[in-house]
Amino acid sequence: MEDLPQILDFAREIAQSAGEILLKGFRSSGLTVSYKGVSNPVTSSDRESEDFLYDRIRARFPEHGIVAEEGSRSEGSGDFRWFVDPLDGTTNFAHGVAHFSVSIGVYSNRKQGVVAGVVYDPCRRELFSALAGGGAFMNGHHIRVTASDELSRSLIATGFPYDKNVSDKNNLAQFNRVLPRVQCVRRFGSAALDLCYVAAGRFDAYWEMKVSPWDIAAGCLIAEEAGARVTMFDGSPYDIEVPEVLAANAGLHEKLLALLADA
Ligand code: IPD
Ligand code: CA
Ligand code: CA
Repeated sequence: MEDLPQILDFAREIAQSAGEILLKGFRSSGLTVSYKGVSNPVTSSDRESEDFLYDRIRARFPEHGIVAEEGSRSEGSGDFRWFVDPLDGTTNFAHGVAHFSVSIGVYSNRKQGVVAGVVYDPCRRELFSALAGGGAFMNGHHIRVTASDELSRSLIATGFPYDKNVSDKNNLAQFNRVLPRVQCVRRFGSAALDLCYVAAGRFDAYWEMKVSPWDIAAGCLIAEEAGARVTMFDGSPYDIEVPEVLAANAGLHEKLLALLADA
């Protein structure tokens, strides 16, 4: 039986090393960009970071499952499954915008939930992490969601799905419903960091649809451990296999759920 604090320490270490790999490729002339869909880029750095993370996890925990965004998979035979986003914020990265992260969430099949999460922002050297039941931290300091309950004073984050060009379910109805009622809405481009910014009290809330488990596994745990309510749009507890999430402090959660339900 592995020790969860040890798993978290290891996840922190490899997330930081993967962050260094990303910084080497960032704004470099050697970076190559290809497209998985009309507006869905993947760079040479996504793949380099993923190969590194996959190899390190496999070598250290050969019995753990691994699901990484760019296709690396290991079935695993034990309790744990690692959800890895080797570069969350690829669109920013490909454009030279310094806002992206490495996201690693460890899911326990037995506990049916994420038990350890790490999100690393290499540009700001901010490392967010949490263990289930152990609180949330940034660079070793406890972090906490805001206490605000006034929609009109709240700063909310969201994102738009890659199929927005071809699908009506593109978050515009929800965006139109929320935007006029809050202080403002931000679209920073890394779902993992959006959740960590809720955890750190920078954003009051975050919602998004059509996200994947590697985008949100770590961030949902970190936000929850910092005091956020993290649910699906119908208010039921979040499930990383369901592609929608609302994370908000207790004072705003119901109000935002109602707005999303109306949209
Ligand atoms: C994307 C980012 C973005 C979110 C998208 C994600 P990627 O991940 O997290 O903020 O709006 O839904 O797919 O493609 O940069 O890893
Ligand atoms: Ca992602
Ligand atoms: Ca990614």
